Amino acid sequence: MAFKIRGKLLVDETDREERERAWAVIANEILDAIRGVKRMIRGLRPPKLDQQGLVSALAALFRDARKVHGVTIHASVRLDWVADELDPVTVLAVYRIVQEAVTNAATHARVSEAVVTLRSADGMIIAEIRDEGCGFELANSGAAPDDNIGLTAMRARAESVGGSLTVLTSPGKGTTIQVTVPMVRPDGE
Ligand SMILES: Nc1ncnc2c1ncn2[C@@H]1O[C@H](COP(=O)(O)OP(=O)(O)OP(=O)(O)O)[C@@H](O)[C@H]1O
Ligand SMILES: [Mg+2]
Repeated sequence: MAFKIRGKLLVDETDREERERAWAVIANEILDAIRGVKRMIRGLRPPKLDQQGLVSALAALFRDARKVHGVTIHASVRLDWVADELDPVTVLAVYRIVQEAVTNAATHARVSEAVVTLRSADGMIIAEIRDEGCGFELANSGAAPDDNIGLTAMRARAESVGGSLTVLTSPGKGTTIQVTVPMVRPDGE
């Protein structure tokens, strides 16, 4: 049902319990809508990636982390292949995974800095995003994929280009995201 109609019904509702129930339904629908928009946004390609290539897009991302969240990213990026030679789908996957991991560190870890390393070896890109922050309980975070779109999408993206992702974390022990993806996608597509 549309928000507008629900809102109108809510205004007319005199019973307190009914009103609270209606509110809960609306709140849920709003959350659903937010999740939907987030999913869509994550599927879009950032323009900077095409224009400047992976390395400078990442540099811009790290600058933003400081500007927006006040978190300094200590980055070491050593990729043998220039971005143009990389599969564009792989480039996008790596960018999005690092973006999500950096955003998570900047918004959840309660740290003022994080470390990102990207290197290439044996035809693979190996990325690590590490913070010494509050960490979290992995078991709980895996319970409802919809509440962990970020983590779920990161893993799905890595796997979609033939790679893998590992999350190392526990409360109080910081968080490390390790990603390994082949530079050339296995299906050659
Ligand atoms: N680096 C981190 N440090 C501490 N907690 C983290 C970190 N990364 C993730 N978490 C915890 O795991 C939860 C799930 O992360 P996830 O990225 O899936 O969702 P989100 O960031 O809460 O929302 P979304 O990414 O959909 O905007 C977070 O809400 C947070 O509690
Ligand atoms: Mg997130």
